[in-house]
Amino acid sequence: MLSEKMQDALNAQINAEMLASYKYLAMAAYFEAENLIGFANWMHVQSQEENTHAMKFYHYIKDRRGRVLLRPLDGPKNDWTSPLEVFQAALQHEQYVTGLINNLMDLAISERDHATQSFLKWFVDEQVEEESNVDAVIQDLKRVGSSAEGVFFLDRELAGRTAEAEGEGEAAE
Ligand code: FEO
Repeated sequence: MLSEKMQDALNAQINAEMLASYKYLAMAAYFEAENLIGFANWMHVQSQEENTHAMKFYHYIKDRRGRVLLRPLDGPKNDWTSPLEVFQAALQHEQYVTGLINNLMDLAISERDHATQSFLKWFVDEQVEEESNVDAVIQDLKRVGSSAEGVFFLDRELAGRTAEAEGEGEAAE
């Protein structure tokens, strides 16, 4: 059984991952309004990944015979001034989530909850990839600067992003 404190913290993480999904959906909508369909696609894929992350926590709580309790979502920001500003906000959010995952791991270690530590290991690794993926787009955006042509080609490139299969299927079980 999960401790009550651990269950609360895991339920809070469902909310954080759902909020991330909602934020990325708002970013997708912004890019669609700007007619940057490739950037919008990248955000849709990211939004779905966050939903998958939330569901991993959902199923884990259930598998440990805990109680899933959903909380209200905060309203996301809907407007930005440039693609770079959007991705910088995305990186900031990923860094925040990394901090939350680290806090969860600290709690699992302090409680000697080995199962939760093992479960969280995937998220520790995933956050490295998440931050790196966002940072890669930031570096590209900085490189193209204000060049409309550069943004156009980057938009084309990001249109090719698809959902990653590895480790994502488990949450649907
Ligand atoms: Fe689920 Fe991007 O952290």
